[in-house]
Amino acid sequence: MKPTHPVQVIAVTGGKGGVGKTNVSVNLSTALAQAGKRVVLMDADLGLANVDVLLGLKPRRNIADLLAGECEIADILVEAPGGLRIVPASSGTQSLVSLSAHEHAELIHAFSDIADDLDILVVDTAAGISESVVSFVRAAQEVLVVVCDEPTSITDAYALIKLLNRDYGMNRFRVLANMVRSEQEGRNMFAKLTTVTDRFLDIALQYVGSIPYDETVRKAVQKQQPVVKAFPRSKSALAYSKLAQKIVSWPVMSTPRGHLEFFVERLVRAPNLR
Ligand SMILES: Nc1ncnc2c1ncn2[C@@H]1O[C@H](COP(=O)(O)OP(=O)(O)OP(=O)(O)O)[C@@H](O)[C@H]1O
Ligand SMILES: [Mg+2]
Repeated sequence: MKPTHPVQVIAVTGGKGGVGKTNVSVNLSTALAQAGKRVVLMDADLGLANVDVLLGLKPRRNIADLLAGECEIADILVEAPGGLRIVPASSGTQSLVSLSAHEHAELIHAFSDIADDLDILVVDTAAGISESVVSFVRAAQEVLVVVCDEPTSITDAYALIKLLNRDYGMNRFRVLANMVRSEQEGRNMFAKLTTVTDRFLDIALQYVGSIPYDETVRKAVQKQQPVVKAFPRSKSALAYSKLAQKIVSWPVMSTPRGHLEFFVERLVRAPNLR
């Protein structure tokens, strides 16, 4: 296998459903592409409001076809407006945790093909803490936990972080507050979360900022476009650009852990240690 350059892999997760994980994944990916990065967004959720719907795409092939040997990874990738590429969701995505040795090899090989041409892989995960969600999150280098001001969002985020820490030894997480009415509200949510994590867990939580509540996001969803593209001057779009600028400055691991094929390897080999 030829060596490739490091790729930043960011899993977008949150425990709770409906906190905005998919909107964050789509807009962050688009903002990163606008900032000149080569971005692939992998849809790891089979839910209804998923990435292709938000971007108005109709993928014809998916990972299941790749694993069946019926196409190449290039045939699966869908170009989205804004210059990013998408790996669409499929039942194949969900079952990546239980592949045969041959399928492992195929997948790793396929991803190493695109690694040359890629800076950042964003993975949109499903709600909850299923085995599939955990395996995607564990395999990533950066975990972006999305929270919002709904009663169970903080407790669900805490449950997710606790599971990943206790059962899988993960100790570094980034937190993004979504749908905030003020910047202070986002900081307060983060403070609430750290109150419990500091008491019970030995982990590093880093606050990366907030995305304001913005009706424009819903308008963009209706237009099947990322808000950063459809309404670039909206307050949410500006917040996404700021977030993308921050992420661009995150260090990328140059160790083997930072290479894309190792992400795929960790993903498919992720042992269920529980
Ligand atoms: N910043 C925002 N301002 C206003 N509405 C938002 C914002 N972010 C997301 N939403 C809305 O919140 C709803 C849920 O968003 P989204 O589908 O991205 O959440 P999710 O966490 O991916 O959900 P699921 O767990 O079902 O996958 C959508 O209707 C979306 O338009
Ligand atoms: Mg979603």
